Amino acid sequence: MTDTTQSSPLVLTGDRPTGPLHLGHYVGSLRQRVTLQDNYPQYILIADLQGLTDNGSQPEKVASNVLEVMADYLAVGIDPLRSTICLQSALPALAELTMLYMNIVTVSRVERNPTVKNEIQQKGFSRSLPAGFLVYPISQAADITAFGADRVPVGDDQLPMIEQTNEIVHKMNSLLPQPVLRHCQALLSPVGRLPGIDGSAKMSKTLGNTLALSASEEQIHKAVSAMYTDPGHLRISDPGKTEGNVVFTYLDAFHPDADKVTAMKAHYQQGGLGDRQCKTELEECLQTLLAPIRERRAKLIADKELLLELLREGSEKAHQHTQKTLHAVKRGLGLPVMF
Ligand code: TRP
Repeated sequence: MTDTTQSSPLVLTGDRPTGPLHLGHYVGSLRQRVTLQDNYPQYILIADLQGLTDNGSQPEKVASNVLEVMADYLAVGIDPLRSTICLQSALPALAELTMLYMNIVTVSRVERNPTVKNEIQQKGFSRSLPAGFLVYPISQAADITAFGADRVPVGDDQLPMIEQTNEIVHKMNSLLPQPVLRHCQALLSPVGRLPGIDGSAKMSKTLGNTLALSASEEQIHKAVSAMYTDPGHLRISDPGKTEGNVVFTYLDAFHPDADKVTAMKAHYQQGGLGDRQCKTELEECLQTLLAPIRERRAKLIADKELLLELLREGSEKAHQHTQKTLHAVKRGLGLPVMF
């Protein structure tokens, strides 16, 4: 039997396909994945089942975004020959492992998961909380362990998921005659989270403060024009704050010339540099970054058959891979493996 706990490093990332991906995804994760694929075997999961956990009554919202997300991935430079892109609902091992893990995790433990706790509050679920939503950390643990991923690039809001996954790994391994599941660690993005264009802490579709990777030239222009700066910076000659000023946060994240941004910050803080000029500089960076992504994306989305075929190929490979873990766990538990 292959011992998955000893094999070489493997990366897994994933996204819920509940809308097209945006600049926040790009900075926090997609950019890093394009680099990671040069050095690690990498699986990328379109987590449609997880997307359904809070969209149970509107499955079309999830289904209609699967190929959109696939197009986003390819448009930013994820290469399906080096990264295996796969669909969560096409991988029965993930659902089966979730069923097995649910028996070794208590309800109170999932309720204590800070990410889930926050989301339950934010979404105002109260007593109408879908059971599937409550257990999505268990399903995410199944994703990570089924692939045997030991490196999981995530935002800091996902750290409790990694912690809970490792608890499940420990518990399940202790029930098996020999360890099968592999512990994992989070790979935090070197760049922090990108705020929304309105200055809120997070870019989120629900808040309407995102800029999609597929944004048109006009949408980029509008977003930058409306961007939150320093409300106290009234006249150009006034000294301005660069901290908490979204334009500068974005310049830090996207401007290719860091020295220039440092000089602009000093000038702005001192007074004499207008918001308009900073925004023009930022808009140029974003137009330059997004134009080729938008063009590639438009061509990709026009050929849905090809996108589907690539997703099918990736899912087929992922299926073979994740079945091995499921079988090893079943065997360890003493359950007959029939096929
Ligand atoms: N929870 C992740 C998100 O909301 C998506 C996800 C599902 C994931 N399964 C995963 C991420 C496994 C990393 C590994 O973005």
